[in-house]
Amino acid sequence: MTPPQIELAGIERVFHLGDSEVHALRDLNLRISAGEYVAVMGPSGSGKSTLLNLVGLLDRPNTGLYRLEGRDVTTLSPDEQAQVRSQRIGFVFQSFHLVPRLTAAENIALPMMLAGLPPAQRAIRVEQALKDYGLEDRAKHRPD
Ligand SMILES: Nc1ncnc2c1ncn2[C@@H]1O[C@H](COP(=O)(O)OP(=O)(O)O)[C@@H](O)[C@H]1O
Ligand SMILES: [Mg+2]
Repeated sequence: MTPPQIELAGIERVFHLGDSEVHALRDLNLRISAGEYVAVMGPSGSGKSTLLNLVGLLDRPNTGLYRLEGRDVTTLSPDEQAQVRSQRIGFVFQSFHLVPRLTAAENIALPMMLAGLPPAQRAIRVEQALKDYGLEDRAKHRPD
C-alpha cells in the first residue's frame, strides 16, 4: 500500500471564547491517499472549515500530528508553512479571490511569481492554463 499523502493523527483544535472552550476537532484521525477524492460533510458547526484550514496549513492544531507527503508539517514556522502552501497546496475558494487590478494572465501568474518561478516558465504555464480553460482571447481582460 502506498503511504498516505495526507495523514492526520490525534488532531485537536480548541477555540477559547472568554471562559468557555469550543472543541472544534477532537481526536481526529484521517488518511488520504494520492489521487483520492474526498468530500467532508457534516452539519454547520461540526468542524469542516476548521479541518480544511488545518489541512491547508492556514491554522495549527493544539495537539496531534499532520504529515503531508510523509513530512511532519505540524511544527513548521509560518514562513516554512507558506513555502509548503505555495508549492504543494492548491485552494479553490467559493468566491474567486481574483485581484481586480490584474488581468486574467497576471492573476494566473501571481502565485507562480510568489513561488519564485522564472518568467519564461511562468509564461508557458500561463499560456497553457488560459488555453485549457478557453480563455486565450481574455488574457488581457481584468476580472470585471
Ligand atoms: N475562530 C474561531 N473562534 C472561536 N470558535 C470557532 C472559531 N472557528 C470555529 N469555531 C467554532 O468551532 C466549531 C466548528 O466550526 P467550523 O469549523 O466553522 O464548522 P463548519 O465549517 O463545519 O460549519 C463551531 O462551534 C464554531 O463556532
Ligand atoms: Mg464552514
